[in-house]
Amino acid sequence: MNFEEKIIAYPPVHPGTDRTFIRFYSGEPDLKSIFYPEGSENLPQRIFVTDTTVGSLPALSGFIDNFRGENYSRAKIENGFVGTNGKDVLAILGAGEPFKTIESVLQIVKAALDNNAQRSAVFVGIGGGVITDMTAFAASIFKRGAHCELVPTTLLSMVDAAVGGKTGCDFDAYKNMIGSFFPAQKIHICPSFIQTLPDFEYRSGMAEVVKTALLYSKELFEKLESYPEILTDKKNPLVEEAIKISVGSKARVVEQDLTEKNIRMQLNLGHTFGHALETCAGLGVITHGDAVAWGMGRAAELSKKIGLCTSEYTERVKNMLSSFGWCVEPVHPVLKNKVQNPSEIASMIFNAMMKDKKNSSSKVRFVLQSQICETVITEVQKEDVLDVLR
Ligand SMILES: NC(=O)c1ccc[n+]([C@@H]2O[C@H](COP(=O)([O-])OP(=O)(O)OC[C@H]3O[C@@H](n4cnc5c(N)ncnc54)[C@H](O)[C@@H]3O)[C@@H](O)[C@H]2O)c1
Repeated sequence: MNFEEKIIAYPPVHPGTDRTFIRFYSGEPDLKSIFYPEGSENLPQRIFVTDTTVGSLPALSGFIDNFRGENYSRAKIENGFVGTNGKDVLAILGAGEPFKTIESVLQIVKAALDNNAQRSAVFVGIGGGVITDMTAFAASIFKRGAHCELVPTTLLSMVDAAVGGKTGCDFDAYKNMIGSFFPAQKIHICPSFIQTLPDFEYRSGMAEVVKTALLYSKELFEKLESYPEILTDKKNPLVEEAIKISVGSKARVVEQDLTEKNIRMQLNLGHTFGHALETCAGLGVITHGDAVAWGMGRAAELSKKIGLCTSEYTERVKNMLSSFGWCVEPVHPVLKNKVQNPSEIASMIFNAMMKDKKNSSSKVRFVLQSQICETVITEVQKEDVLDVLR
């Protein structure tokens, strides 16, 4: 498959993690030609990891059939299985956040160990952010660090999760609390994977695209602003352009600050409000993207409240978010039947923010903007935060 390539480099967190080759492919995804190119010899052993939903996509069927073997001919993808193709291994895990567990990570490690993988093996995660985060984590701990390549298949994992080296899994009710920094050596982006994504997953990823545009690309923001139909028009060339711009922007940030000591924190625009909403609504009740989109509206209001930006900026951001169908009200409808009184809801959201370890006793740190592409990280007093939540 033909591809465009972009290389990003950083101080290594582990031998071999000093650069990432990001490849953009056009046309239908063809994993066989990516991982078994004609004429290639001496390929390293690969431990491919995917989930039952991605494994069932027509785009993967030929690839996966190579791993079924005689013993696996009756294995059903929906039950998950481990298969082999020569020395290469394929592990199919359960799909979605409930499977983002240390047990799933250990299943990947076990599949590698049972097939005599060495540290030279390449762990390849093919899926959404759950699979790419866990596969990269397994690679980072396997024999103290193997190799990692990723094939993100959701919009969110293309523009966000696969780029930047954050790996991990959940533990009990704690999200992403176990993990490491371990950038992939290669990221293979086939935008056409998103054609099979359910609409709500696509829309969730689009919130991160809008966030990246607000942070780093006025041009992309303007294009999205004038074409909200992108939400129902996955085939529009703007989608591929938006993916490339978003990936490029995140890549530039993580190149400068892989381990989130300074500018990488900007990527949390909308996330302080969004995470608190997700927590208060109950995990899984609202998508991450819808929560972050609401959070970006609240951040724009908070920027105005503390005198950082003009009303025009706030209105422009909110108009854009609402044209995409995202809530821009102080109280998100998912909370309305939890507690009736807006002040109680505001306190509930604030308390959820305070539980974040990064916040001091009476102030919360926010990523805010004075205008599009002008970002400020600042602590804000409780009363000002409450005012934009009720
Ligand atoms: N590492 C990071 O920097 C980072 C950043 C953002 C999010 N994340 C993590 O990413 C995860 C969320 O990622 P996600 O939204 O991709 O969720 P996901 O991986 O659960 O994928 C969502 C669903 O879509 C299915 N799917 C994947 N690709 C598909 C396709 N092409 N067609 C049809 N269905 C497909 C999956 O099987 C799954 O059921 C969270 O766990 C989050 O913590 C990590």
